[in-house]
Amino acid sequence: MVESASPPVQPWWRGAAIYQIYPRSFLDTNGDGVGDLAGIARRMDYVASLGVDAIWISPFFTSPMRDFGYDVADFCDVDPVFGTLADFDRVVEAAHAHGLRVLIDQVYAHTSSDHPWFAESRAGKEGAKVDWYVWADAKEDGTPPSNWQSVFGGPAWTWDARRRQYYMHTFLKEQPQLNVHNPEVQDALLGVARFWLERGVDGFRLDALNHAMHDPQLRDNPPAPRDGRAFNRPFDFQTKLYSQSQPGMVGFIERIRSLCDRYGAIFTMAEVGGDDSVAEMKAYTAGDRRLNSAYGFNFLYAPALTPALVAEAMGEWGGFPGADGLAQGWPSWAFENHDAPRAVSRWCAPEDVGRFARMKLALLASLRGNIILYQGEELGLEQDVIPYELLQDPEAIANWPLTLSRDGARTPMPWQEAPLGGFTTVAPWLPLAPANLARAIERQQGDETSILNLARRLLAIRKARRALRHGSFGNCRAEGALLAFDRAAQGELVRCIYNLGPEPLALEEVEQQGEPLLSVNADLPGMLAGYSAVWLASPLVEQGQ
Ligand code: BGC
Repeated sequence: MVESASPPVQPWWRGAAIYQIYPRSFLDTNGDGVGDLAGIARRMDYVASLGVDAIWISPFFTSPMRDFGYDVADFCDVDPVFGTLADFDRVVEAAHAHGLRVLIDQVYAHTSSDHPWFAESRAGKEGAKVDWYVWADAKEDGTPPSNWQSVFGGPAWTWDARRRQYYMHTFLKEQPQLNVHNPEVQDALLGVARFWLERGVDGFRLDALNHAMHDPQLRDNPPAPRDGRAFNRPFDFQTKLYSQSQPGMVGFIERIRSLCDRYGAIFTMAEVGGDDSVAEMKAYTAGDRRLNSAYGFNFLYAPALTPALVAEAMGEWGGFPGADGLAQGWPSWAFENHDAPRAVSRWCAPEDVGRFARMKLALLASLRGNIILYQGEELGLEQDVIPYELLQDPEAIANWPLTLSRDGARTPMPWQEAPLGGFTTVAPWLPLAPANLARAIERQQGDETSILNLARRLLAIRKARRALRHGSFGNCRAEGALLAFDRAAQGELVRCIYNLGPEPLALEEVEQQGEPLLSVNADLPGMLAGYSAVWLASPLVEQGQ
């Protein structure tokens, strides 16, 4: 075979593995039952040992914590529960010393109602910040200006006695919606981004970005089609045509990108949820003047992991230019995060969690795009069941018993198999479940067969193989429980084969060619055992060679 030309130089973030740290639950170093920034710095060697490229730290900014930090009262300071700005600087220093990039959350759709901007805006109908939030008069009969509903339950409008107007909030009433149509608001948010870029961060995860703009005419959302989906909250009853997802976002996104470009290799990744997020993700990332990447909820809330689900998600990101002629963006993928129930508890029976978690990590490590690993996912943690009286999450309390179950995915990291998990020395803010304590890091470290060490191997292979890190996705088979696809880049091809079901599958001859690169749970000769993964490498003879 003719040697391929040397591969093109790729930006650091392309194909990167990103480790999400939820700071409240990572490591408590000051004995208050809540994790902190010093804890992140202290365990940077552990994070680096996984072989990830970057960390993404969920909000640690000044906040009354009504939505556990996603309600920001000062975008440019650290909440005392997490430490100080100096502690943050130490996190950046420790990460960079380990060759890790640092991404932080930016919450642009709303602030806390404790933010001084909101205090000023609600003070009256005149003044510099009068239009910084989404204010509107009541309808003639005193009811809210539109039918919009909040994600966490109840109307998206709350009456404010001071201004004698309603203000909009997509989430809690303590998270008033910023009016991102207003160029001054955009300038202020870009000022926040600049503050953190100057402090040395390498990028941003942009929270709930498609919620950041509303229809200025405040038109009512239409009812959602009755397509058999469960409507658990009033929010689910509507198609969110006007309360979110407005085209003006792209203009603001281009301003974010142009700021980031002034700071070198900065990575930007939007969270774009909702029923129809793919088109928005594509619009937010197309060409080279918008964001680098985006992720949706394909896997985060899926009740089952099926070959069709994976094939469909990957199929949207074939790398072909869109109708606008712009180059397609680059996707990111998460199976778990701080909002969604742990995937193993959604996707397999309790007795299969051990095997399933390993196969699922292999699948994540072979996807085309960036992959986001949520803290504890590398340990195979399952969802904790938190009794009502111990719930912390306002969403969970409001919607009980049909909640998004966020608390059960936010429980502290089990560092040791001890009652407090080595996480803290006092009562933790959320309990640690015995099942997850048995998966403690200390216990898995020295065990070559542990899922933790498998995670390290998977990430090492992904990093070493350009086909897995940067390559194309193709030749996909999604039949019954079988999922197989090629990842291919200059000169190399990796065939990734999975059995996503519990029963063994016969492996055809054609699926057995190549050098074995990885075998997970594939303990039956000639067969693909239940919940198993095989990667086969072969040279790629490209057309024309
Ligand atoms: C975050 C949530 C948060 C919400 C409001 C999200 O998408 O991930 O944790 O509650 O935005 O900021």
